[in-house]
Amino acid sequence: ARNTLIAPSILASDFSRLGEEVETVAKAGADWIHLDVMDGHFVPNITFGPPIIKAIRDRTDKVFDCHLMITPADPYLAAFADAGCDIITVHAEAGPHLHRSLQTIRNLGRKAGVSLNPSTPESVIEYVLDELDLVLLMTVNPGFGGQAFIPSVVEKVRRIKAMIGDRPIDIEIDGGVSPANAGALTAAGANVLVAGSAVFKGEGEGAYAKNIAAIRDA
Ligand code: DX5
Ligand code: ZN
Repeated sequence: ARNTLIAPSILASDFSRLGEEVETVAKAGADWIHLDVMDGHFVPNITFGPPIIKAIRDRTDKVFDCHLMITPADPYLAAFADAGCDIITVHAEAGPHLHRSLQTIRNLGRKAGVSLNPSTPESVIEYVLDELDLVLLMTVNPGFGGQAFIPSVVEKVRRIKAMIGDRPIDIEIDGGVSPANAGALTAAGANVLVAGSAVFKGEGEGAYAKNIAAIRDA
């Protein structure tokens, strides 16, 4: 849809040219830059942390959308805020005190998000709706780019949309997003789509721009 925000995941970019890739995808029409932080503990993969985020922060003024797949998260929230993340999302499954994590993020002056694995029911957010700026629904099991989209999550998008009512909370989808499923996701109520492999396909601004437009217009 025209007002859908696209958040390319730099996990699928060329890490040897990370700064350049961020600049290029921003020029190609990315709305947000999605940063996948993995700890080899909550998820079976390791990516990057605050120093890398800080190093690429001045390459663009786009929103830095930080997806923390780490446990514990609370001890590191201030470091991710300092590194320049605008939105900080923790997983509902990653810690025992979701309400505290969300409060900590907002107290740092950042927007607070919660992410739900494909198997996690939407009811976990029922009592934190007023502490939330964003819900990130996983449509793959977190840990890797390039996995197949899990279609049962589309129904969860509908339910979350209904729970949120008129609160200003973004609904973001992450995992296996492509032009083939983007339309169904936005029709169900999603307004932000993360895409890694579907955006960083081909080389350079022209290719990325085409890929982003294909998802947005789907
Ligand atoms: C998965 C990450 C995703 C991933 C998306 O754990 O959270 O953001 O990079 O990559 P694609 O779009 O390739 O599924
Ligand atoms: Zn992600």
